[in-house]
Amino acid sequence: MKKAIYPGTFDPITKGHIDMVQRAVKGCDELVVGVARSTPKNVWFTTEERVELVRDALSHLVNVEVCVFEGLLVDFARKMDAGFLIRGVRAFSDFEYELQMALINRKLAPEIETMFLMPAEEYGYVSSSRVREIAALGGDIGRYVTPRTLQALKDKIASRKETKDTPRRSAAGG
Ligand code: COA
Repeated sequence: MKKAIYPGTFDPITKGHIDMVQRAVKGCDELVVGVARSTPKNVWFTTEERVELVRDALSHLVNVEVCVFEGLLVDFARKMDAGFLIRGVRAFSDFEYELQMALINRKLAPEIETMFLMPAEEYGYVSSSRVREIAALGGDIGRYVTPRTLQALKDKIASRKETKDTPRRSAAGG
């Protein structure tokens, strides 16, 4: 029984991630998409929002489970009884970082293998932060995210704008 973890921040999930999951499920019996709760990244979406969008985007796939994880990725993989970690390498620039991560994870958990997959060319340059940036500047991101994620991004941008535009009251009430 081959069980693998596809981890990420998914802030938000893009069609590039969906493409990776669709490729990964071909090679394993069970795939767990691990949504990282704590991340050094300045995320737009809460963990619950990110999980909800991931679940929605992958609802057409069987043998795919979406879980939140905290702490070390290898500890999560062990807890889930998964023998493989799936990562995508989009460009040469990804390679060094991915190699480092894979080797550290191997030192931490020698029994767990990292497997790399190549994304579809059309998503080779997509990342969550690029998608957020283009959306925030009013660009069309419909080809990179699902309709549900597109709406969530629009709502998030509107609420962030509202928060920014609302004048803060001083402690004195002014
Ligand atoms: N399609 C679209 N976008 C993709 C992609 C693909 N195929 N592959 C990667 N990306 C994007 C991601 O959306 C992300 O974009 P962003 O930086 O704009 O958010 C970026 O490329 C990859 O970021 P990266 O930091 O490599 O991965 P991540 O944020 O998705 O996940 C974790 C990183 C959570 C897997 C990693 O931090 C982790 O394992 N944390 C747990 C702690 C731990 O074990 N640390 C030790 C590890 S050595």
